[in-house]
Amino acid sequence: MKHLRLLFVILLLGLVAAACGDDTPSTDGEGDPGAEGDLVVGVSWNNYNEERWAKSDEPAIKAALDAAGASYISTDAGSSAEQQLADVEQLISQGADALIILAQDGTAVLPAVQSALDQGIPVVAYDRLIENPGALYITFDNVEVGRMQAREILELVPEGNYVFIKGNAADANADFLRGGQQEILQAAIDAGDIVNVGESYTDNWDPAVAQTNMEQFLTQNNNEVDAVVASNDGMAGGVVAALEAQGLAGIVPVSGQDGDAAALNRVALGTQAVSVWKDARELGKAAGEAAAELAKGTPLSSISGTTSFESPGGNTMTAILLAPIPITQDNLSVVLDADWIDAATLCQGVEAGSVDGC
Ligand code: GAL
Repeated sequence: MKHLRLLFVILLLGLVAAACGDDTPSTDGEGDPGAEGDLVVGVSWNNYNEERWAKSDEPAIKAALDAAGASYISTDAGSSAEQQLADVEQLISQGADALIILAQDGTAVLPAVQSALDQGIPVVAYDRLIENPGALYITFDNVEVGRMQAREILELVPEGNYVFIKGNAADANADFLRGGQQEILQAAIDAGDIVNVGESYTDNWDPAVAQTNMEQFLTQNNNEVDAVVASNDGMAGGVVAALEAQGLAGIVPVSGQDGDAAALNRVALGTQAVSVWKDARELGKAAGEAAAELAKGTPLSSISGTTSFESPGGNTMTAILLAPIPITQDNLSVVLDADWIDAATLCQGVEAGSVDGC
């Protein structure tokens, strides 16, 4: 009988211990991130607003970390630069051996990046520049994305009134894109063939803000707008909604980037002229692999596939730059063949045989 009581007590203690659990952060289910010897990579997301981050970037990072035997922990700053500073500290306190940061504000995040580097924790600046040469900068060539957007629009509208719907001012990509656009359009502007009749940054790349700004530009110009260079697909959606209200959707060409499903369908339907596709799965894979290497102690200079990038702030960054691809009605099969989007989604509402891929 005494043995039975002892067995019962042991079982009860085991149940109590299991019920208490522990406060280690949620991971991808692959083990305890703080476990001895287990490499941990912390990812600080500024937000998940655009489709790409949760659909493509994050799964690719997780898969690369898993393949490298590292654990994934993450935070979402909800578009707050202040919260992101706290998030980075939290990831460090949770045992991150390396950080990947998608910056809300590339300048505001600098103190947290320096703090991490001072603690010997490597940092990957994900997709958006952070002006610290100690960080590994991994992105697509954003200036080339801007050139591609402008090139497609210029081909359709060699003369006329242009509106520019730019990204978030605190995101260095907004000006990289705008600079590439200007490179392509400069000669036509100088010749007086193209007139800039409206230009604005868009807080947080918010489609609703882009729509409101576009409505105002249409009103100010009495609807005499011939082309819109919008810097990403989310904002392009807001622009097209504003044009739709004036019966101008499909008449006024609009650019974008990211290969959002809704945007690629707009390209197939003809209400968006181009979406510059960046295979975010490749970006996530490259960042996950590099972060795992850095976490293992590989020096920044030994990371494979890097190049030098001279930043606007005068820093020589170690960078990995991936190549973007402009998607128009002529090459929609590219994103189908890459399994980026399925035909039913891409071709919804599209007349069969009217465009490549549908
Ligand atoms: C940029 C990114 C783009 C764009 C935007 C929205 O930094 O390069 O893909 O969609 O963010 O978050």
